[in-house]
Order: sequence, then C-alpha cells, then structure tokens
Amino acid sequence: MQAKMQAPRSTVSGRAATRSRVATTKVVCRALNSMESAHVEELKKTAAYISQKGKGILASDESNATTGKRLESVGVENTEDNRRAWRELLYTAPGLGQYISGAIMFEETLYQKARDGRQFVDILQAQGIYPGIKVDTGLQILPGGKGETTTQGLDGLADRVKAYRKQGARFAKWRAVVKIGEAGCPSTTAVLENAHGLARYAQICQEHGLVPIVEPEVTLGPGDYSIEETAFWSERVYSHVMRLLNEYGVVLEGILLKPNMCLPGLDAPVASPKLVAEVTTRTMMRSIPPAVPGIHFLSGGMSEEESTLNLQALNEACPEAPWALTFSYGRALQSSTLKTWAGKQSNWDAAQDILLKLAKANSQASTGSFKGPHPVPGGGRILQALRTGGAGK
Ligand code: 13P
Repeated sequence: MQAKMQAPRSTVSGRAATRSRVATTKVVCRALNSMESAHVEELKKTAAYISQKGKGILASDESNATTGKRLESVGVENTEDNRRAWRELLYTAPGLGQYISGAIMFEETLYQKARDGRQFVDILQAQGIYPGIKVDTGLQILPGGKGETTTQGLDGLADRVKAYRKQGARFAKWRAVVKIGEAGCPSTTAVLENAHGLARYAQICQEHGLVPIVEPEVTLGPGDYSIEETAFWSERVYSHVMRLLNEYGVVLEGILLKPNMCLPGLDAPVASPKLVAEVTTRTMMRSIPPAVPGIHFLSGGMSEEESTLNLQALNEACPEAPWALTFSYGRALQSSTLKTWAGKQSNWDAAQDILLKLAKANSQASTGSFKGPHPVPGGGRILQALRTGGAGK
C-alpha cells in the first residue's frame, strides 16, 4: 500500500471520547466476537482511513447497463472504451484524494487501465484513495406481489472477494433495498431477508479481507409519505441489520454503513435540511452503535446542492457524533461532471474541475464547514431520473 494511506490524523473530540469509552469494552466484545479473520486489524484501519475527517467515497460502481443509460443521456455510446474513458476522467482528477478516501468500482472497471497503461487501482492508490468493489449482482423481486426485492450475489462470493483483493480492492459494497410508502411495505420477509443478506455478505468480506460497506437503503420512492414514516422504517431496518451483523460475528469497527438520509416521499413537500438532519441523526443515534466508524450517506433522490446542504446540516446538528457523518455519493458527484464532459476531449479539464469542486463542497459539509456558494446550485429533486430508471445501480 502506498505511503499516502496513513491513519487519519484527527477526529472531533466527541468521537475520540466515545472511542475511548468503547475501548474499555474491547475485551468483552472481542471475546464474544466469533470473527477470527486474519485481517481484522487491517479491516479496522482501512475503515478508519476511509471514514477520516473531511473525506468521503466516490460511488462509481454503476453496472454497465446503468452507466450506459447515463452516457447515452449526454450522447455518448455505451461501449467498453467509453465507460473506461469516463472512469479515467473521474479517477485522474488532479488532487481528488484531498476529498475522497475510497472509490467504489464495478467489476469491469476494477481491471481497467488508463490510456497511459496505468491500472485504475494504481492511479487511485497513488491519490490516497482505496479502491472498492460492488460485489452484489443486483436485485431480485421477492414473491408476494408488492415489488419488494432481495439482493443477489452470495453464491461464489468468497472466491470473488479473494480475486478482488488480489487486484487491489480493499473494501466492498452490497446494496439492499427496502421499499416503503405502499400499504404492506416493508413486509417482515423483506426486512429479515435483506438484513440476512447484508450480514452474510459482510461476514464473507471480512473473512477474506475486504471492509464491507453495508448498504440498507430504505428507498426513496414515489408517494406522499412523511419524513417520520421514513424514519420509523429506517430505524427498524437498521436495527435488524445491526442485530444480524452481531449474530454473524461481524466486527463493527471494520465495516462502513451506507444508508439513506431520512427524507419524505417524492410526492410530499421537500423537507428542510434542518428537519432532515434532526430526524436522520435521531434515527442513527437510536440504531447505529458508536463502534461503526463511518456513516456514508447515498445521494439518491437529492440534487447536487441538496446533498451538500443536507450533509452540512447533519454535521451542524450532531458535531459530536460518534461516527463520521459523511458521503458515498454517486449522482451528486457525477451528474454535472458527466454533462460537462459529454464525451468530448476538449471538455476533459472542465469536467474534472467540476468534480473537484463538488468533492470539495461535500468534504467541507462532512466537517460542517461548507459555507457556499454551491458549485451546482439549484435543481430540485431528481424525481424524473428516479422514475425513468436513473435510480440505484
Ligand atoms: P447515489 O449517490 O447516486 O444514490 O449512489 C450511491 C450508491 O452507490 C447507491 O448504491
């Protein structure tokens, strides 16, 4: 690993204090914990590195089909080389590592190279960014008729994790989606099944040396349900996930959590950043143990500016949070970057510039120090994108 991958230097005092309280219970936790991975100490260091103050994750693990839709939206054909060029633009942005500590990749991308022959994983590591890999293989409808889903990908996962680690990946992502906002949703089956999948995935990743990003996404969908309803279900879902992680002996210091922020349904009036922050931090306080080093929110359903303002409000609402409250943004970092590039070499530098500005704004928001103006102001919710298949991965 490169010299740039140093342990984080600073944490806010509240986090440090909570950690020392946690440290006193270490013996008990370790004794009860069944995880005997040779990698435990490394997993903890990697998770702490990725969650360090002022940094977040660039989620660039869209499947080829989803990447294709996004490329085609700016007139770029969905070919392997165009997907490669797009990711090269992201990963070679000069100085990206000042704001980004991890980049999640799709399998194809993990093995790709830049035009100059350097492997993407080496480019990222040289920027101080850990390469990560999406390991789930997508969603599958659960029987029952409400459109709820489970996540596929456990079969053969151990072998894939070993191969990804060999290629340089140090963390992984598995996205589980729990649908709300419709009568009967979420069902007990969906909550339990998704919690089980996340726990088994996390266990397998830790055993073979990847930090699992646990992503229980209480999905933001159509409907006029309230922010309190999202909070109610989010709290339940996260609590189930945490209980199963515990049952499966997953080391919480060696995971990262990637949840949704609590937002009202897409057809309800938008909630202010202050309200989102109040309700989201309350939900996290009730359900996420302080041993988890970082909560890296996804941006789905928010505009680029909303993603930054809501993250800023979260850090203002909870400056002494026991975990990093930061980002793992896909669309909030990529949308304007992609539009600016539009496949033209002449736009390359301008596109990298907008990516860096967005990454910087979110880095500042993750420490509660974003003062604006935002590099991409305005733009309400991306309802249309969600409804036309732009959501998720
Ligand atoms: P968005 O920030 O675009 O929601 O993507 C994050 C992600 O990785 C969802 O799985």
